[in-house]
Amino acid sequence: MTARSSVRKAVIPAAGLGTRFLPATKAVPKEMLPIVDVPTIQLVIDEAVRAGVTDVIVVNGRNKHAIEDHFDHAYELEHTLRERGNARAADEMAAISTLVRLISVRQKQPLGLGHAVLCAREAVGDEPFAVLLGDDLIDNDADPGIGQLIRVHAETGAAAIAIMEVPAGKEHMYGIVAGDRDAGGRMRIREMVEKPKPGTAPSRWAIVGRYVLPPEIWPHLANTPPGAGGEIQLTDALRELAVSPAGMVGVVVAGARHDAGDKLGYLRANLAYALKRPELRDAVLALCREILAGQGV
Ligand code: G1P
Repeated sequence: MTARSSVRKAVIPAAGLGTRFLPATKAVPKEMLPIVDVPTIQLVIDEAVRAGVTDVIVVNGRNKHAIEDHFDHAYELEHTLRERGNARAADEMAAISTLVRLISVRQKQPLGLGHAVLCAREAVGDEPFAVLLGDDLIDNDADPGIGQLIRVHAETGAAAIAIMEVPAGKEHMYGIVAGDRDAGGRMRIREMVEKPKPGTAPSRWAIVGRYVLPPEIWPHLANTPPGAGGEIQLTDALRELAVSPAGMVGVVVAGARHDAGDKLGYLRANLAYALKRPELRDAVLALCREILAGQGV
């Protein structure tokens, strides 16, 4: 059963060009690349729905019709599956189209993640909302990652963001936060910097792509100038929020995190999700052994 949630809306930025996955992403949005046989964005939306989210706002660029189609009815497909006696698959397809109310908004220029989230302002309105980045997968069947942040937000009234400790030398790949950690491991965030130059990071605590934000973020986003990489950065607007009375809490979210936006991370996620499937597990393990043996490992 889905818990009643104080957060009903989630924003999923999906306007990137997916250049790290070319040529696969030349015509197919990277959010539709499968983890085993489920599009990445479906895993992310499923996480949000399990946390009580009912409305998802996808911020699209060009070429994103596949995402809308995926979460719509596919009458011909469902009909054909039923005619062939595969009612189970037909029901599964129908369930995807009723999973969530999907709203598409367009980011007309690639001005950065902060700008992408700002494009969802009208659709979200004056209420707290979640942001989920599709490159980050948080695998937790019992307690969805974004739900853990929604609880912290409900408890504290502050913005809540997921954080994890990264190895020294990797800080420049992330937004990095610093602040005071309490006994429960939560961090009251005081400092944030997007992709710090090597050797300048204030800590090794990196932002993972899950956020619960109050509507006070909107004016900060609207006023954020271009930052790292010449883009309007979400992290820069978050910093303003963190030092405002609203405040911000960093939470180490329970669950296995995969960076599906990176080739190795994507392969790792595929393997990890395949190994969770009882019907695949033994065969995948046998396959791994066979491949390793073939490589003389
Ligand atoms: C984005 C955010 C960054 C965060 C990261 C997590 O960066 O800007 O703050 O640490 O996601 O995956 P990107 O990976 O899109 O460059």
